[in-house]
Amino acid sequence: MRDRLLNLREEAVAAMGAVSDLEDLKKLKVKYLGKKGELTTILRGMGTLSEEERPAIGRLANEIRTYLESMIANKEEELQDLALEQRLKDEKIDVTLPGIRRTPGSLHPLMAVIEQIEDIFIGMGFEVAEGPEVELDLYNFEMLNIGKDHPARDMQDTFYISSEILLRTQTSPVQVRTLQKKEGKVPIRMICPGKVYRRDDDDATHSHQFMQIEGLVVDRRVSMSELNGTLLAFVEKMFGEGTEIRLRPSYFPFTEPSVEVDIFDSDKGWLEILGAGMVHPRVLEKAGYNPERYTGFAFGMGVERIALLKYDIDDIRQFYNNDLRFLHQFQSV
Ligand code: PHE
Repeated sequence: MRDRLLNLREEAVAAMGAVSDLEDLKKLKVKYLGKKGELTTILRGMGTLSEEERPAIGRLANEIRTYLESMIANKEEELQDLALEQRLKDEKIDVTLPGIRRTPGSLHPLMAVIEQIEDIFIGMGFEVAEGPEVELDLYNFEMLNIGKDHPARDMQDTFYISSEILLRTQTSPVQVRTLQKKEGKVPIRMICPGKVYRRDDDDATHSHQFMQIEGLVVDRRVSMSELNGTLLAFVEKMFGEGTEIRLRPSYFPFTEPSVEVDIFDSDKGWLEILGAGMVHPRVLEKAGYNPERYTGFAFGMGVERIALLKYDIDDIRQFYNNDLRFLHQFQSV
């Protein structure tokens, strides 16, 4: 029995010397020292020993157990150190490698122009409003004094969703929504940027979807000259001091009188940028404002038009193609 124990020790020591990873070491531990391990198996035969032999063998067995246990513990520590070292080596970071360059995003030129326009009007005391793109015929046409027989209501010009619901063809319905929301109170000074839709074949100057900014001012004694002054102040801030504007008589069902406004460009001459006018008494009345007491002006400008002019772009489709070579040019705008 003594020999078996000594053999076991020798064998275990040899096996441990050859072990090179923690998993295998664990298996060895079970094999030799586990509950069903070899040492236990040998000790189970103790009963066959004589009284004299038993204590000596028992002591030897315990010595061997302690010895093997401490060896395993040492080996475990050694292997753990090795594993850590290997991991540190594998995960080493080369700080000299070039990084991944991230290109910062930037505002779309149309958004940049809208923000500039908003800032200018906010500076003049206007609030920024919003309205739905899917709009009622009632707001897009009816309340704006655009009668049932008006050509703009033709299926050829407007995207109808049902007979009463459509994609707004202009931001002017937000005039009506604003008036209703204010419930007869003044002053009103609001602008509203947003998308509008018209049935058009897309080309360099037309798009079935584009953007407008609506403006509405209602108060006591609002006059045409205030409209003129407001627009002039806007244009000078947007296109530079000394930029001239010109008002031409025009027609819109919801303004009276109505004008179209041009700005003067030294290369291209007079260019139309917006429609405007004094709010039609019938529009005020329908929305709950007494036109005998209150007057107002409204305007609506095409954002693409302003952006084309400001940045000297020649094709409106550039705004919608999302060509990065085009968009990157506006990074600092
Ligand atoms: N809604 C008009 C258009 O789309 C523009 C406009 C707005 C005209 C407000 C007058 C007053 O053409």
